[in-house]
Amino acid sequence: MIKKALFPAAGYGTRFLPATKSVPKEMLPVVNKPLIHYGIKECMNAGIFEIGFVTGRSKRAIEDYLDHSPELEEKIRGTSKEKLLKETMEMIDKCTFTYVRQKEMLGLGHAVLTGEPLIGDNPFAVVLADDLCEGDVVSQMVNLYKKFKCSIVAIEEVPKNEVNKYGVIKGKRIEDGIYLVEDMVEKPDINKAPSNLAIIGRYILTPDIFDLLKETKPGKGGEIQLTDALLRLAKEGMVIAYKFKGKRFDCGSVDGFIKATNYFYEKEFKGS
Ligand code: UTP
Repeated sequence: MIKKALFPAAGYGTRFLPATKSVPKEMLPVVNKPLIHYGIKECMNAGIFEIGFVTGRSKRAIEDYLDHSPELEEKIRGTSKEKLLKETMEMIDKCTFTYVRQKEMLGLGHAVLTGEPLIGDNPFAVVLADDLCEGDVVSQMVNLYKKFKCSIVAIEEVPKNEVNKYGVIKGKRIEDGIYLVEDMVEKPDINKAPSNLAIIGRYILTPDIFDLLKETKPGKGGEIQLTDALLRLAKEGMVIAYKFKGKRFDCGSVDGFIKATNYFYEKEFKGS
């Protein structure tokens, strides 16, 4: 069973400057909820209530969001506004949040390794909150883990000319939408990509990933890449790639963020 999730949230969010100079990217609101709100709900819907954050400098707003605000709560108690905080209060009441700081931003792989003390010797979900997903992707992957008991990456078909923004897999199809990973390349050149199946920000990882990450040297962009450790896991054991059902918005980019805002406004907010 997957009981824990890790949210690497220490990145600089340079694509969203100047906003991300002092506001964590993960706290940017899509309509009226910050990105982490959507990711945490996805975890709760999957039965995960122990959530660890890898944070960094200028990320304290995340902790404040996930704690009580007694004066504000008192102010709106019994008013029509109380319902606006309902889901957030539920998160605070039902989940345990833990935090560790990544002291140097050496890449996603390094961020995951920094989260080891929060996870221990357990399989866990990884959620990159700036990939905003609809369709309970974490639940889909937790169910798949029950069957395969190995690390799983969520994938999506992307246009060929965008593969250089992602980790890209080469896989052998074993079931509809499920691939056995044979190769994995971080941000490949467009003409060298092994496919257009791109890894998005949802993973289930087995704890043996930590030992592999400890041995992983800086790769693409000089960063310690999760993809490199996962490739070793795929070669020495087994990694599954799963074409999730649902939608994903890359809210780390202005374009994806606007698309998500329009989508969730139409779907959940308009007229409410
Ligand atoms: P990104 O590649 O989106 O990087 O990281 P970024 O720094 O957040 O954003 P840009 O590219 O500068 O605009 C993918 C995920 O990994 C986390 C980020 O917070 C994000 O959730 N991350 C990345 C870390 O936690 N630490 C790192 O050192 C790097």
